[in-house]
Amino acid sequence: MHKSQIFFATQTGNSQEVAEKLQEDLEASGIEVACADIFDSDPEGISELSDLYFVVSTWGEGEPPDDSVGYFEKLKEYSDGHYSGKRFAICGLGDSGYDIFNGFAKDLEAELLRLGAVGILDRVDCDIDFEELSDPWIEKIVEYEKSLRSAE
Ligand SMILES: Cc1cc2nc3c(=O)[nH]c(=O)nc-3n(C[C@H](O)[C@H](O)[C@H](O)COP(=O)(O)O)c2cc1C
Repeated sequence: MHKSQIFFATQTGNSQEVAEKLQEDLEASGIEVACADIFDSDPEGISELSDLYFVVSTWGEGEPPDDSVGYFEKLKEYSDGHYSGKRFAICGLGDSGYDIFNGFAKDLEAELLRLGAVGILDRVDCDIDFEELSDPWIEKIVEYEKSLRSAE
């Protein structure tokens, strides 16, 4: 049995919009998945989850949104393998005009891999017109969730 959750890290709402669209599209397929701001989430409180979907933007110079710094610092304190058995997918929102394009999405992926989680899909690095890549990413997650359910 699997259990999934969507997490978003945002400064101005774009990542939340993508995360909520994923939640809505899953609901339209009869799949209920919770969606939470990383700011309100405890990285320790995911023991019952198997699949984690992250939608995260990058700010500053390749950094997490302000509200998400604490969450990421906690992740970095865990020892290797702390998330073994978990699966994840990341949709990054950024702007290729900045030097460190989608830096937080890349750092989060590296951290989750270090913790032993396994990537479900290739990370996507969205640019200003984020829907170009976030919409196909959402479709793939919906298909993945359907396949998990039909296998149960
Ligand atoms: C002051 C500022 C700094 C930014 N720094 C970066 C950056 O270093 N790398 C990047 O890829 N995008 C950067 N961005 C672009 C944002 O990540 C992008 O606009 C994103 O869609 C914001 O999503 P959000 O509303 O979920 O926070 C920056 C944007 C602003 C306004």
